[in-house]
Amino acid sequence: MSVLGQPLDRTDGLLKVTGQARYSADNPEAKLAHAVLVTSTIAHGRVASMDTARIQAMPGVLLVMTHETAMRLPDGGKPNAEPPAVRRLSLLQTDEVRYSNEPVAIVVADTLERATDGARQLQASIRYEAAMPNADFQRAKGTAYQPEKMMGRPINTQRGDVAAGLRQGPTRLDAVYTTPNEHHNPMEPHATLARWDGPNLTLYDATQGVSGARGAVAKTLGIPEANVRVLCPFVGGGFGCKGSAWSHVVLAAMAAKQTGRPVRLVLERPQMFGMVGNRPFTDQHIQISARDDGTLTGMRHDVISSTSTFEDWNESSAIVTRMLYAVPNQATTHKLVKLDVGTPTFMRAPGETSGSFALESAMDEMAYELNMDPLAFRLKNYAEMEPQEKRPWSEKSLRECYQIGADKFGWSRRNPKPRSMRDGNTLIGLGMATATYPANRSEASAIARILPDGTAMVASGTQDLGTGTYTVMTQVAADALGFPMDKVEFALGDSSLPHAPVSGGSQSVASVSPAVREAALQARAKLIAMAIADSVSPLSGGSIDDVTVNNGWVISRADPSKRDPAAAVIARNGGKPIEAMATTKPGDEKQQFAFHSFGAVFTEVHVDADLGTIRVPRIVGVYDVGSLLNEKTAHSQLMGGLVWGIGSALTEKSELDARYGRYTNANLAEYHVPVNADIGLLDITLLGKPDPHINPLGARGIGEIGITGVAGSIANAVYHATGVRVRDLPITLDKVMPKTTV
Ligand code: MOS
Repeated sequence: MSVLGQPLDRTDGLLKVTGQARYSADNPEAKLAHAVLVTSTIAHGRVASMDTARIQAMPGVLLVMTHETAMRLPDGGKPNAEPPAVRRLSLLQTDEVRYSNEPVAIVVADTLERATDGARQLQASIRYEAAMPNADFQRAKGTAYQPEKMMGRPINTQRGDVAAGLRQGPTRLDAVYTTPNEHHNPMEPHATLARWDGPNLTLYDATQGVSGARGAVAKTLGIPEANVRVLCPFVGGGFGCKGSAWSHVVLAAMAAKQTGRPVRLVLERPQMFGMVGNRPFTDQHIQISARDDGTLTGMRHDVISSTSTFEDWNESSAIVTRMLYAVPNQATTHKLVKLDVGTPTFMRAPGETSGSFALESAMDEMAYELNMDPLAFRLKNYAEMEPQEKRPWSEKSLRECYQIGADKFGWSRRNPKPRSMRDGNTLIGLGMATATYPANRSEASAIARILPDGTAMVASGTQDLGTGTYTVMTQVAADALGFPMDKVEFALGDSSLPHAPVSGGSQSVASVSPAVREAALQARAKLIAMAIADSVSPLSGGSIDDVTVNNGWVISRADPSKRDPAAAVIARNGGKPIEAMATTKPGDEKQQFAFHSFGAVFTEVHVDADLGTIRVPRIVGVYDVGSLLNEKTAHSQLMGGLVWGIGSALTEKSELDARYGRYTNANLAEYHVPVNADIGLLDITLLGKPDPHINPLGARGIGEIGITGVAGSIANAVYHATGVRVRDLPITLDKVMPKTTV
């Protein structure tokens, strides 16, 4: 039986639970110096003065790096490279302050305590020239403009005759949905340890992309990429915020250069709110029109989201609307408003999370207007082919997801009337929504080595964010080599390894596993050829079609008594590792097919009739995400996505005080992520149908689809429970509390 797909424990699990996994900030270094960031308390203006000399004289302080003392960077720290490859950073090259919590200085000392003390005292000494910030999204909406690009996708789309389509159906909806700023908050904060050895820079950096970080740092510092090595064997969660090399990464390298010591810089939790990206505000205007039988005739989805004053970053909320339903006449647009805030960034299913809340809420509202079952309404408008580009799907089993989900959930027992189902003082709501995320794939490379001791070493410069990359790539390699799992070691998280893409956009599995498989297959073929050519081997003179590798033995299929251990074959033939390297990339299948994953999310909510408190006792999620490389880690990915979906629906919001442009809940006590007590039954089914076109393994990425559709499903369940339609996330008790209580 193949090891592929098996629900194996994580190969790095023991290291993690015993504390042996070394995260970026854990690396020991001789003569390590500690850096603490000082960040702005105003959102717009300039630093007028600070007590640099006094802090510099404090015991143990090695460096006070400010806009006056920081090394000058080429092009003022704005390299000629486009975001998001290289972000617009805050590198102490000017006295300007562009957002709250922007780096304005760094204090480096011989201990963390002395650096922290120095940073606090420096912070207290800063005098600013402050101007009124522009941080009120609702007020700034009038200044919305169309950006030049949106991560390689069209900013606007149009098909059919939209105006006519919107007039055509007698049933219409015109509604605005809004979502707040949110911040990623992985357990491991951003952290960088920088060390220079002459002209060479080594960075231990908490990143989703070692190659991307290397490129961004090299370009910003103006040094060759070959001089930079980024290491990241373990990441304590990324979710998008670690997909870019932000200011602190370069600042750590600068501080190490200026002190001549290795420097460690870890962001404090409150510093995670501003300089390392977030999900921006969205304002989503949706218009829908349908015939009496539920056939969609027209749809518009116009999105405004917020960005910083110095970089256009686009929350692509309407891309989900382009592909999900077979509506003939449709327009989607994206606009931005600039605020005095840090630049937003990718945050788990960027676009699809906020967009699917709006679209799937709107579809539910339409179903009620049409007096139609919400699931039947979706089936009525099922997209048999991708409706924007008119391409066939590579594989789509959304109908099956709906069906299985509805059965498991007991959808047929739902009384559609709002406020009709209750248990004592508990209002019961049942809602559903569709989940979807594109299936991305990029070029990737890997190397496989069969070692003289009969083990194998396989490697690629990819990352494991905690998702299971080590484990699934070991499975892919073991399967292709014909070796047992415990004889294969997989290495990642090092920019000197063969190149792999950023672990973002749910693309690692789809991109890296074909390269790992190909490298392993080639190494296996070399081993087989070696055995066949070896006059002493029992396989000597055998045919390539007959000889295979199984459980670490080179073996004849026809006569399994003819077998030879891999180690013995290598020992007799020079004793050197057998090595193969492979690069794989997508072909023109992207032009032929539309690649998407799908799912159906059914949610039960319980709402206290008096207090408006909302609980989620049960979610049934059914997903069509291609083949599964590991059923257990796949299940965990979906679970994590659903948990975060509950957070985005009910608890998460970064409160931006528009008067100061400052987040007022920049800590884990007041930024509410769901905890165990908030989570009920998560009943997850994965269809496991191979995608025949994405890659030889049939596996699509699953990092992001789990969060999509969840907020919509919960919002729809809350409406069903209470009769209150909340179009503004998060859905807190004040928004559903009965307005009539005394
Ligand atoms: Mo994901 S938000 O592309 O890391």
